[in-house]
Amino acid sequence: MILERKQRFNVPEIRTRMEQVSAELGTDTFRGAQIVEYAELEQVYSGAMREISTKLENLDDEFQLKNEHNPIHHIECRLKSIGSTIGKLKKRGLPIEIDSIRENLYDIAGIRVICNYVTDVYNVADTLSQQSDIEVIRVKDYIRNPKPNGYRSLHVIYQVPVFLSDGPHPTPVEVQFRTIAMDYWASLEHRLRYKNSIEDNAREQHFETLKECASQLANIENRMQQIHQEIG
Ligand code: GTP
Ligand code: MG
Repeated sequence: MILERKQRFNVPEIRTRMEQVSAELGTDTFRGAQIVEYAELEQVYSGAMREISTKLENLDDEFQLKNEHNPIHHIECRLKSIGSTIGKLKKRGLPIEIDSIRENLYDIAGIRVICNYVTDVYNVADTLSQQSDIEVIRVKDYIRNPKPNGYRSLHVIYQVPVFLSDGPHPTPVEVQFRTIAMDYWASLEHRLRYKNSIEDNAREQHFETLKECASQLANIENRMQQIHQEIG
């Protein structure tokens, strides 16, 4: 059997992506040595994402063993694309520099933890937050305080050390904890938000309906959680 070794972080490939982004956004991106620095940045953020996902998997296994229940339904990871990263810097009027990414953007590494019930969301998030080698940088609790459009999720920015040959690199990771119902709702709302082919009035009507759906879903998952707790 022949195993093909593919480089995960590849400077020529990143350079090509930079050129595409530059053409699409009509903006300057990184060049020369900065491309190598960007590749290093992607590598560190990807390491941070792996650290946090492993911690989450370990917690899920432990809960499963002790309580015969997996709090985590599944985990999704993504590294922000070069296009979105440059686009966000540009939109916020921030300099297009590597340090500006490090200092201002906390969602280069993103993890979505989809849980079965709201109690699972808080159990997993609280347990992770208490681990001694990571730091909680920011919490936005859109479950206790939903956004006006109905969006619910718990967002936590963690800082985790990634150990490289020159020592630890503290790196932020944005973790969105939500239930299956919250995820299902957010996917549809996201699709509607970026759908330009719909007439304005119809869109507004759909947003109104979604707002009602959000509170109905909250009610339904609460009732289902009660059954889950009662049957143990
Ligand atoms: P941005 O990352 O620029 O949005 O700023 P922020 O980090 O302060 O925002 P926040 O923590 O509120 O939300 C970050 C992410 O949560 C977004 O990138 C989305 O993935 C998700 N999110 C937030 N609000 C909504 C919403 O109303 N609908 C949906 N579908 N997703 C949302
Ligand atoms: Mg974001």
